Amino acid sequence: MAREYWKPANLLYPIPAVLVSAVDAEGRPNVMTAAWAGTVCSDPVMVSVSIRKSRYTHELISRSGEFVISLTTERLARAADYCGVKSGRDVDKFAAMHLHPSPSRKVAAPGVAESPVCLECRVTQVLELGSHDMFVAEVVSTDVDPQYLDERGRFDLDRAHLITYSHGGYFALGDCLGRFGYSVRKPKAQDKKAKARKTAADQDQGRPSHKSHRKSSGRKAKGAKSNKSNGAAKKKHSSKSRKRRRTYPH
Ligand SMILES: Cc1cc2nc3c(=O)[nH]c(=O)nc-3n(C[C@H](O)[C@H](O)[C@H](O)COP(=O)(O)O)c2cc1C
Repeated sequence: MAREYWKPANLLYPIPAVLVSAVDAEGRPNVMTAAWAGTVCSDPVMVSVSIRKSRYTHELISRSGEFVISLTTERLARAADYCGVKSGRDVDKFAAMHLHPSPSRKVAAPGVAESPVCLECRVTQVLELGSHDMFVAEVVSTDVDPQYLDERGRFDLDRAHLITYSHGGYFALGDCLGRFGYSVRKPKAQDKKAKARKTAADQDQGRPSHKSHRKSSGRKAKGAKSNKSNGAAKKKHSSKSRKRRRTYPH
């Protein structure tokens, strides 16, 4: 069927729905929801958030040059919606949604304590794009909730149950389909060993196998012999994958 061609539409989905907090001249915090937000640079770490001039938050950020982005979770979905339909000019949204301000280290605005990640931001540029002004900002500090650190001290964001916004709806994230680079990663040595063990077991039970017995026992013997070096290989692999995790190209 032929594709339909429409006039320009904001259909870049899914996107985040973040909470953007900023303070007034007296230090009183306000928070609004923003979906027109994103990462724009890795080094320095920079983000952008596009906000209409009519928003109270626009006024606060324009005055202070600072804001905090707090990520939203399933538990914060309702608050995210509320903060996106009510204005801080009329209501204290922190109080109304039982949100707690989380003190920031480098900026006056607090984050949202119930969020797993708060990004403290300092505005570097304001681009007047049309309906929205884009505040481009440097992330000057990253505050994380330690409850999402695993036993090895790694940040496990999967456990935070983040949400996303798509075409008017808030969605929980689905299953992880693969980790960064999985399409080109070689199977782990462990997986290969498990496969070899299964093949050998299949053959012992008389189940059909693609590998000849000779080949399989050869693999097994090889595996057994290299058990010691396998440990080293495993170690090497894990430090390698740690490195890989730190060196995303984006
Ligand atoms: C899911 C969602 C996403 C939104 N994204 C934006 C946005 O990116 N930029 C914007 O100016 N307003 C956005 N809004 C609307 C503001 O959050 C809303 O007007 C809010 O009441 C402004 O609050 P304030 O007046 O306290 O700043 C969004 C609303 C919702 C519900």
